[in-house]
Amino acid sequence: MIGVYRASQIVIQRMAKVSMSRIIPDFTDVHCHILPGLDDGSQSMDETLEMLRIAEAEGIRRMIVTPHYKEGRRSADPDTILRRMEEVQRLLEDEGIDIRLYPGNEIYYTSELEEKLESGRILSMNYTEYLLVEFSPFEDYIYIRNAMDNIRSLGYTPILAHVERYECMLKDRKHVEEMRALGCMIQVNASSVTGENGSKVKRFVHKLLKLALVDFVGTDAHNTGRRKPALWKCAELLYKKYGAEYADALLTGNAEEILLS
Ligand SMILES: [Fe+2]
Repeated sequence: MIGVYRASQIVIQRMAKVSMSRIIPDFTDVHCHILPGLDDGSQSMDETLEMLRIAEAEGIRRMIVTPHYKEGRRSADPDTILRRMEEVQRLLEDEGIDIRLYPGNEIYYTSELEEKLESGRILSMNYTEYLLVEFSPFEDYIYIRNAMDNIRSLGYTPILAHVERYECMLKDRKHVEEMRALGCMIQVNASSVTGENGSKVKRFVHKLLKLALVDFVGTDAHNTGRRKPALWKCAELLYKKYGAEYADALLTGNAEEILLS
């Protein structure tokens, strides 16, 4: 499992540069809906291209594409996701946009997860043991905890998507601590760090960050408007409030193990 602080050579080099009061635009987005026409994210190749131009300007250099997978809803199969991703990657190269894409899914948890994984209907994060998992915002804590336990027992490491969205987590921060103790990793949305989802959510997220309970910051980008792939303002805040080592880990270091596999 990835440690929160990874003292890799890359991180050390980045810290040296950051200490010269300059943030390196070299972020990895582990959660986004940029592939066109597969879910409620981008609806066209033009929109995708515009989102990716925004992402590049925001300092993002790598993106794990995570279209929704939800039972009973129209969800793209892995072959379609991979084909669409390669199409977008070619477009990025043609347009000279410096972003590399990696495959994934944002999986809405159901008890049929094991069967879906075994039959190859769901993509893990870049073919690794890491799964980006979401639930209903109003789901019971016990259900989420048991689900995470189940995923661990299947040999996967769950990454809980946008932890700040769940009522049961907002009500009791100790639930987040327990999730991590179970071997679950925690992702928050950049827009929650910067306060765009309200002051209650912002306070909660910053409490988690102070306690180093967060592993990844993602954009969860869906469009070019309110849910665009914005990360720079969040990065500035993270470096300022929590220091280069933790900010580096959140913005790219902890994703290295997923990307280098
Ligand atoms: Fe999402």
